[in-house]
Amino acid sequence: MTGKTFYITTPIYYVNDVPHIGHAYTTVACDAISRYKRLCGFDVCFLTGTDEHGQKIEQAADKRGIKPKELADQVVQRFAGLWETLNISNDKFIRTTDELHKKAVRKIFNKMKENGDIYIDHYEGWYCTPCETYLTETQLLDGNCCPSCRRETSKLKEPSYFFRMSKYGDALLKHIQDNKDFIKPESRRNEIISFIKDGLRDLSVSRVTFKWGIPVPDDEEHVIYVWIDALTNYISALGYGEDDEDFTKFWPADYHVVGKDILRFHTVYWPTMLLSAGIELPKSVFAHGWWTVEGQKMSKSLGNAIDPTWLVEKFGVDAIRYFLLREVPFGLDGDFSFKALIHRINGDLANDLGNLLNRTMGMVNRYFDGTVPAYSEAGAEDKTIEETAERVFKDVDEHITNMAFNKALASMWEFVSSLNKYIDETAPWALAKDEAKKERLGSVLYTVLDGIRMVSLLLYPFMPTTAEKIREQLGTGKELVKTSTQDLRKIRTLESGHKLGEAEQLFPRIDEKDMLEFLKQEIDSEKKDDEGQPVVEEIDFSHFEKMTLKAVKVLECEKIDKSDKLLKLQIDMGSEKRQVVSGIAKSYKPEELVGKTLVLVANLKPAKLMGTLSEGMILSATSDGKNHRVLELPDSVEPGTDIK
Ligand code: MSP
Repeated sequence: MTGKTFYITTPIYYVNDVPHIGHAYTTVACDAISRYKRLCGFDVCFLTGTDEHGQKIEQAADKRGIKPKELADQVVQRFAGLWETLNISNDKFIRTTDELHKKAVRKIFNKMKENGDIYIDHYEGWYCTPCETYLTETQLLDGNCCPSCRRETSKLKEPSYFFRMSKYGDALLKHIQDNKDFIKPESRRNEIISFIKDGLRDLSVSRVTFKWGIPVPDDEEHVIYVWIDALTNYISALGYGEDDEDFTKFWPADYHVVGKDILRFHTVYWPTMLLSAGIELPKSVFAHGWWTVEGQKMSKSLGNAIDPTWLVEKFGVDAIRYFLLREVPFGLDGDFSFKALIHRINGDLANDLGNLLNRTMGMVNRYFDGTVPAYSEAGAEDKTIEETAERVFKDVDEHITNMAFNKALASMWEFVSSLNKYIDETAPWALAKDEAKKERLGSVLYTVLDGIRMVSLLLYPFMPTTAEKIREQLGTGKELVKTSTQDLRKIRTLESGHKLGEAEQLFPRIDEKDMLEFLKQEIDSEKKDDEGQPVVEEIDFSHFEKMTLKAVKVLECEKIDKSDKLLKLQIDMGSEKRQVVSGIAKSYKPEELVGKTLVLVANLKPAKLMGTLSEGMILSATSDGKNHRVLELPDSVEPGTDIK
């Protein structure tokens, strides 16, 4: 153990919302840097979790007729499940309903009180429930609406405990000015500085209008303001106030990574709370930008929030991780579009990276029977690779440390391109024609293989599965050993003489037009509302009329090879026989369907599923998309009968 530690946190996510790509973004970014730091020998603590208290959650639970904790227990599974899907390597997961967390919140509240920074008074103001924030008159938009979410606020007057935040304005300003890394990026830092310069007011830190929260110590009428509760997660998860081992080891945090919308909470509320409680301040808070989707703000009412699990199913986890961190500079806003995603996959992943590996594997198989050749004869071209590798390792380190993930990936691709170029320049296929050049041919291919090995190391934090796949193909075993940055940078450490693994295409090319069409259909059929329930869109009768539904009799049925979902049915439609593929193999054995009279959507455009022609669609009932019950008609209905 080197003794170097690294502590990084995501915001904790509200459980009234289901996860979308905005949430995935922060977490994937923190994962990439955590993996990189581990690779460099740091003892890393990577924390994420869920924010489960507050009126918003209470109301969301009420709406569903369940207790807030039940809602939290359900939604937390979705977040935890998503982190698994996205290959997130968090070391800790905190829930604000955890006992250990509640204890820590009470402790910090008491500390602030002991220091004379908590007093009771009345609060009167405009309150925005969705944002859990009081607003001043001047902040409101027309119609008393919240400037952040644009929803109507309500006027509240209630007894409230206050935190003497005003007392810490000067100290905080000085801290920000003395520590240029405290708030990043720079533009955001300036924003916060001018906010503090306008003067900090005391902060209302308790509520009496609802119950779902942590009671104020010694005054159970009040629950602690949800932001005081939530921010404390960064130390409660380390055992603050309970078992200080991790707290001593990891605090202060190296990075709190947050979206730009919650920067003020993290760079004004949180540090002043810590100053009051006598706890060291985090080293750095980084605010990333916001994603829009196809040019529009992601919103529940538009139903355009993209479910990352769904995306991963369609495109694979590493393509999504790559896209999120490559497409937009961390810190700026960006737009998510399927077109851009497909371009990145086809261009960067399938073309540049995939081809590099494929062509190299192909040549080593062809010219050296799949055995890694030795590096025995240097050539003039090798110098460029050595220099590029050295520069890229240095740049990647710097960029990742500065959270410039897009630049780190661009640097890696510079290396990938230089390897592709090296192949073109050294032209192994020409060397192979001359037996006297065998040594040089081996050295060239060795250089490329070793370069690919380095690429796999660099890629690992961003695309862990791809990195492993590459290493398996290189025959080096998928594990990446913990190593120091120095070892990381060493070139020509690939051993010679061993057999390569099996060649496999990393990222198949996507047909843009087909994919966009397919996605559109899926999205239309899977639109979800606020609660994640499918949105039922109204259609005109004329739309309905366009559909031809027919009674059909199943003549034959069999499973489709290599698919556990699909069945192939031969059906009698009266005037003609047809073949239909149906995704019901998990619910029916083929023989169970033979002889049944079913309902067919008969005028769907024919399509190929797993290479098999399907001329229509069998209707079935399903609540989860997995278990199906086909719509059966009585035997007396003749095949070909119209269904209206
Ligand atoms: N619970 C608070 C955070 C408390 S931290 C002590 C919260 N939760 S949230 O679920 O609403 O948002 C969590 C994070 O997701 C925030 O950093 C927010 O910026 C981020 N995003 C939400 N929508 C986003 C986009 N459209 N794009 C990028 N990130 C976005 O706030």
